[in-house]
Amino acid sequence: RRWNSSSPRLPPGSRGFPVIGESLEFFRQSPSLELFPFFKRRLERYGPIFRTNLFNQDLIVSMDQELNNLVFQQEEKLFQIWYPESFMRILGADCIIATLGSFHKHMRSLVLKLLGPENLRLVLLHDVQRATQASLLSWLDQPSIELKEATSSMIFSVTSKRLISYDSSSSDGKLWKQFDAFTRGLIAFPIYVPGTAFYKCMQGRKNVMKILTKMLDERKRASRQDSVDFLDLLLDDLKKEKLLRNEKIALDLLFLLLFAGFETTSSGITAALKFLTDDPKALQELIEEHQSIRKRRVDPDSEITWEEYKSMKFTSHVIHEALRLSNIAPVMFRKATEDVHINGYTIPKGSKIMIDPSSVHLDSTVYKDPIVFNPWRWKGTVEPVGGASKEFMAFGGEVRLCVGADFAKLQMAIFLHCLVTKYRWKAIKGGTMSLSPGLQFPGGFHIQLLPKA
Ligand code: HEM
Repeated sequence: RRWNSSSPRLPPGSRGFPVIGESLEFFRQSPSLELFPFFKRRLERYGPIFRTNLFNQDLIVSMDQELNNLVFQQEEKLFQIWYPESFMRILGADCIIATLGSFHKHMRSLVLKLLGPENLRLVLLHDVQRATQASLLSWLDQPSIELKEATSSMIFSVTSKRLISYDSSSSDGKLWKQFDAFTRGLIAFPIYVPGTAFYKCMQGRKNVMKILTKMLDERKRASRQDSVDFLDLLLDDLKKEKLLRNEKIALDLLFLLLFAGFETTSSGITAALKFLTDDPKALQELIEEHQSIRKRRVDPDSEITWEEYKSMKFTSHVIHEALRLSNIAPVMFRKATEDVHINGYTIPKGSKIMIDPSSVHLDSTVYKDPIVFNPWRWKGTVEPVGGASKEFMAFGGEVRLCVGADFAKLQMAIFLHCLVTKYRWKAIKGGTMSLSPGLQFPGGFHIQLLPKA
């Protein structure tokens, strides 16, 4: 075990300028699918493990597959969850990300009542279809729509209905619009000055928390027999098990679930559509898969069944390929709880580590021609792909694997089904992907939706 020998050599690297460190370069955009230049340049110069300073924080960056795997395998042993201050201030100090051990497991089990396989099959499959069909229909009359924004609002309507019984169509305030540049605000420099992405996000958080707190207070006063949404479930847990120690924990969980899902999944859908627009052969195979599902039905317009969803093999390949290439969660963070020795370097106890998942997703020894969109490369992989593996970490590692992963994939697949069976689309403008953190589609991807010819 290489990490137990003692050699006190720190990884190489630079801290950059005082205070801002190397942040400026980190946030610079790159209009290509290749490894993001910040990482590429340092990989060439220092190798896959190096030091930097971002958001006023010394960090050890890992582009090393062995170290990445070690970090995830040793979750809550040699390494532990840690996120920068900007992140925790926006998501809340009591959110699930900040929890460990059995309490973390309890939080996950609560969330899985909403996002686990049973509820996906019995409730969300139907909800997602309805919301998708309604959205697509409403796009038909418009000269063009910005895809990420349009799908964000669609996804938010599904999630917020089951979380807090929020009705997006009749509620006046556009709750989801509270966040402009959510991802960018998360991984930002935590200075609370008007105009910054961080400031905007903090304002958004304050407004949303006010609404959620009021909702929780009202709900506590109301008498009810059954639980109708996730908020009720949290209130029951607060009362019965006393595992959720206080309301702040419940509110932070609601907040995270409302906002962790739509930014990410809408980027996934946008990436998939962008790649399909540029690849007629893949699009044709996708259309055929969905047409053949439709043809097998007694009523071609009946709802998608769970079995049909599970049979969408090529769709699943398209989704994984889009997630691999778009690296929606651009970085993940942990800290070392012990001195760790690897590749001749020492990572001292307490070091903050930034994991770059694109280093494996874009590695030519793992994926042949890594920057080519090739959904067929997933053919024959054992299902379910998209859990945690050494080669695919779009949803993180095993212990803290994204609890919304199956929900996100379901939404992407249902969207593609509804889209290609009834419509076609024309790219109007944009769609350049940038691998700068939090900036997948600067300028957006605009399409015009048309009825199928
Ligand atoms: C394509 C879409 C998505 C991507 C790429 C994604 C990515 C990730 C990643 C990489 C992590 C692990 C972070 C870490 O280990 O440090 C994570 C965790 C998490 N995700 Fe997602 N996510 C997506 C969709 C969703 C959705 C739809 C929801 C919920 C509605 C969600 C809720 C969460 C939560 C609550 C966690 C924390 C899990 C824990 O700490 O145990 N995500 N996500």
